[in-house]
Amino acid sequence: MGHDKLRKFAENETFACLLQPAADTVLDRNAGPGLHIKDHPIKGHWNGNMFPADQPIVLELGCGKGDYTIALAERHPEMNFIGVDIKGARLWKGAKYATEKGLRNVAFLRTRIEFITAFFGPDEISEIWLTFSDPQLRGSENKRLSSPLFLERYRQFLRPGGLVHLKTDSRFLHEYTRAVIAANGLHTEICDNDIYHSGRLSGEVTDIQTFYENMFLEMGLPITYLRFTLDHDGPLVSPADFDADFWREAEGPRRSFSHQPSPKQ
Ligand SMILES: C[S@@+](CC[C@H](N)C(=O)[O-])C[C@H]1O[C@@H](n2cnc3c(N)ncnc32)[C@H](O)[C@@H]1O
Repeated sequence: MGHDKLRKFAENETFACLLQPAADTVLDRNAGPGLHIKDHPIKGHWNGNMFPADQPIVLELGCGKGDYTIALAERHPEMNFIGVDIKGARLWKGAKYATEKGLRNVAFLRTRIEFITAFFGPDEISEIWLTFSDPQLRGSENKRLSSPLFLERYRQFLRPGGLVHLKTDSRFLHEYTRAVIAANGLHTEICDNDIYHSGRLSGEVTDIQTFYENMFLEMGLPITYLRFTLDHDGPLVSPADFDADFWREAEGPRRSFSHQPSPKQ
């Protein structure tokens, strides 16, 4: 491991705003095959235990360096924000910034998003941002952060009427998510195929750019945005009519960018 990464990991241990639970604290390994999640003590207690102010909580899942988490938190002191990612060296940047600026409404959680239900109780979360998630073009549908499997997880803690924001460079992921929304009769508040050229959106959707977003913008890629709710009776289903081959083809070679080694953290 590089010297710089080791330094960041060591400094991560000192940040009060960064929670880095070991997998064993949330995985029940004696429960047989499959993923068995057990509750982490902070579940249901972020307000009070982590945040001094009892305020609505917003998650950014796959936050990388925490660009959205930080920018939203600075704009909205009346809300609390948690960035979630598995990469400690990326989280270091957001956690360091929040620590140095004394931001009391920001926290970061280092975990796999697959374990997310261990950390949040019913109605504990008001909004979720998915920012430039990997579209998993060739991988299993169940790895997409907007798949029914993941949305079912989010439903366990998103309050009624709570919003999900998906901002992406991937037309494939955008169209896939639209298909999930349609298959389940979910309510779409906003759907925009090219946010910087449609002229329809303003505010935090177009004012804040993440690390990855800036790279995609330099490549001239359109950025899309979906805002929807998860209110729904019964289980969520996969979209049977999503034409994955068509949208994979439409995505073209530009996605090869994200399969190159990660940018320097
Ligand atoms: C393409 S990067 C985008 C980062 C950031 N949102 C941005 O726009 O700059 C995707 C991020 O999601 C994280 N990620 C992907 N799948 C994850 C998972 N299952 N659990 C935790 N983090 C995950 C990766 O570590 C990575 O930092």
